[in-house]
Amino acid sequence: TRPKRIAVLPGDGIGPEIVEEGVKVMKAAGERFGYHFEIDFGWIGGSAIDRLKNPLPQETLTLCHQADAVLLGAVGGPRWDQHPPALRPEKALLGLRKELDLFANLRPTTLFPGLEDSSTLKPEVLKGVDFLVVRELTGGIYFGEKFTEDTPAGEKATDTLVYSETEVERILRRAFDIAQLRGKKVTSVDKANVLESSRLWRKVADRVAKDYPDVELTHLLVDNCAMQMIRRPADFDVVVTENMFGDILSDEAAILTGSIGLLPSASLGEGHQGLYEPVHGSAPDIAGQGVANPIATILSVALMFRYSFHDDTVAKAIEGAVTDTLASGARTMDLVSTGRLAYSTEEFGDKVVEALNKYQPDP
Ligand code: NAD
Ligand code: IPM
Ligand code: MN
Repeated sequence: TRPKRIAVLPGDGIGPEIVEEGVKVMKAAGERFGYHFEIDFGWIGGSAIDRLKNPLPQETLTLCHQADAVLLGAVGGPRWDQHPPALRPEKALLGLRKELDLFANLRPTTLFPGLEDSSTLKPEVLKGVDFLVVRELTGGIYFGEKFTEDTPAGEKATDTLVYSETEVERILRRAFDIAQLRGKKVTSVDKANVLESSRLWRKVADRVAKDYPDVELTHLLVDNCAMQMIRRPADFDVVVTENMFGDILSDEAAILTGSIGLLPSASLGEGHQGLYEPVHGSAPDIAGQGVANPIATILSVALMFRYSFHDDTVAKAIEGAVTDTLASGARTMDLVSTGRLAYSTEEFGDKVVEALNKYQPDP
């Protein structure tokens, strides 16, 4: 078969460090399972601003359009925080998601055996945690009209939150489709007691649910959901919500697994193309030290095999290799209790490759 074209966008901060390990594991999986890759690197975010004065250069967009899948590290950092909105690193990420029409952001949250102690929550609360946040990614308050004005009473800033029925319906259908393949439970999260857009969301959710009689739909208000997710996390299966609520809830969910350095994501549209990136950011506080956890990026590579190449065998092998590596006791700095020795980003990536080469699928 023809090689898979992968656009690799390391970005800023720890981005290049974790992406290197992701690519390493991707290549190892390719060798073991017979994939050929054509890898093209592109600038994005602050590193693109520094070189090309544009956070999302046209050549990067072109690379991504031509790719079967995009692997991204992270963008942003204090160096660019005072830039005007159009020249901020984060703008590139939003632009890329929008340009590729990747409206469905899947953020799985699962607990790896042995990591109960890395979480700040009680082990008995974490038992059985395995849910998926389905976050709407190309609409809502991130993309509504925004402006600032000077008024006699001082500066005034506006962000608008707009959702069309079509946008809401396609993300809800995606959530129900996925729920049918999992635990058949959808929790739809909104703020329908206050927001018009949420009232539309809830109405569409009820209508879509009628087409999925085997899936159970529950509505939760977002504030309550934030609480229930910590109180009884194992009860959740698929959590579907709008853009900003999904951003916040998925960082909260990280604490159930032990570290934000563990959470991968897949951003999908109607086709096979996808953007794969960790949920976390560029972590400027630890960048350049070689200590970042590469697991979120490595698991994002697993999602690439699952959702863009429709190859669950390879996805499971990568996930299994991460599980085995953690089971061997290997930990990065974010996961160790004080006094225990931690692996560097690179050492951990090497361990995962070793485990992948030894990995035997369950019969
Ligand atoms: P962050 O996720 O970068 O970091 C939050 C905390 O988690 C920090 O203490 C960091 O050290 C730690 N952390 C994150 N990833 C880690 C990893 N792989 N291993 C170990 N520890 C890890 O969030 P922030 O500090 O709020 O944001 C920093 C910058 O990243 C900002 O400019 C923000 O806009 C950007 N950001 C980018 C993305 C993205 O590119 N997808 C996502 C979130 C934030
Ligand atoms: C994420 C990030 C981004 C978001 C930022 C960097 C624009 O927080 O991917 O979760 O809010 O979507
Ligand atoms: Mn976020």
